[in-house]
Amino acid sequence: MQEISVIVGLQFGDEGKGKITDYLSDKYDVVARFNGGTNAGHTVVTQDGVFKFHLVPSGSLRTKMVILGNGMVIDPFALIDEISKIRAVNRDLVVKVSFNAHIVTKMHKVLDNMEEKMRSSMSIGTTAQGIGPTYEDKYARTGIRMFDLLDLSILKEKIESIYGMKSNLLKDTEFSEKNKRDSMAGELYEVGLKLKEYMDYTENVIYESYSSGKNILFEGAQGLLLDPDFGFYPFVTSSNTISASAFTGTGFSLRKVKKIIGVAKAYISKVGEGPFATEMFGDEAKKLREAGGEYGTTTGRPRRVGWLDLPMLKYSLMLDDVDQIALTKVDTLGIMDEIKVCEAYEIDGKKSKFPPKDIKTVQNFKPVYRSFEPWGDIADMIGKKVIEKSDLPEKLIKYIDFIEKETGIPISIISAGKERKSTVEINK
Ligand code: IMP
Repeated sequence: MQEISVIVGLQFGDEGKGKITDYLSDKYDVVARFNGGTNAGHTVVTQDGVFKFHLVPSGSLRTKMVILGNGMVIDPFALIDEISKIRAVNRDLVVKVSFNAHIVTKMHKVLDNMEEKMRSSMSIGTTAQGIGPTYEDKYARTGIRMFDLLDLSILKEKIESIYGMKSNLLKDTEFSEKNKRDSMAGELYEVGLKLKEYMDYTENVIYESYSSGKNILFEGAQGLLLDPDFGFYPFVTSSNTISASAFTGTGFSLRKVKKIIGVAKAYISKVGEGPFATEMFGDEAKKLREAGGEYGTTTGRPRRVGWLDLPMLKYSLMLDDVDQIALTKVDTLGIMDEIKVCEAYEIDGKKSKFPPKDIKTVQNFKPVYRSFEPWGDIADMIGKKVIEKSDLPEKLIKYIDFIEKETGIPISIISAGKERKSTVEINK
């Protein structure tokens, strides 16, 4: 049966989607990414080494074709670099980049920093990869698209209009000089020529792949709680991360997807500012951060860490319409002295099972926890492709059963380590 699936993050990004996508991708002929840019960092560990992807889909090591969809924003220099690295391992991989995807330039990265300064106390803690300013240009209809890299005069014209609209922020930067802007246009034109062979009408490529019976996996970046419509605005990213954005980000029909896989960490991590009800501090946070290697793949920033938040998870599962959960880093959580899950919030003395969204209330809510006993280190138990649930430690089964009962969604994959072999499907 033809498999058409979407994989998305259910928390604040960094749930381990890269690893799960890599694990699943040998079943899929095509893996298409639909949002974000180099703000994403997906790590995949194989016997060939550690791969950190920012732009190419995490399925790139094992599938036959990858697509970078129109919903993405692409730094063309980073893309050239990633394609050459990936080709060294998966030589026959076909790479297709949407003509309609938008281009992140050096000027957008500078703008990202300047905008953060202007926000002062409301700063987001962006990855400084130029993501916000590039999407701003997309929706202001001044953006530079993949197509435009092939025409130097259009590039120059667009760079001038972006500069004109944002000159208040750029006037004290190198881009205030016309010759700097022109030389940037020249560099973009040159890299565009190198990328020309990969550019395509990817909406057609996906449709043709579908029509010829190929299995397709749509891969999202970041997580639902960073979605600009449904996350904790303004502490969000600039492209939608909800599973439905797979359709707008690639042009594929929303009627044809058969399965939606949501990836959640057994605890939560977050980089950047914004509310985080279950955040841990002090030695407890340090222990989890060190054990889980919780440092940003893109920025190296230490990630904030906290307990699993069930009301949020349920919210993400509902919006993403998830069929099955992949639960990651159960090995890391298992070593804590006591394991907690937030099952509700207390707001003004009242219990609520629904996450508030206005920033004032969010900052004042208190998590109500349920405790679980730690299951210890389980990395050694993993290594088969499929295991019986009953093979897992009893204390971990209790944790899994609780989440499944509360959410009503099966946990069908767990991962307990960095390597490919530490991801397993659970037979029930
Ligand atoms: P931006 O996407 O660089 O504009 O950053 C906006 C917010 O999203 C910041 O809090 C970032 O830390 C966060 N963010 C963006 N991409 C990722 C990701 O791939 N993983 C985790 N957090 C991310």
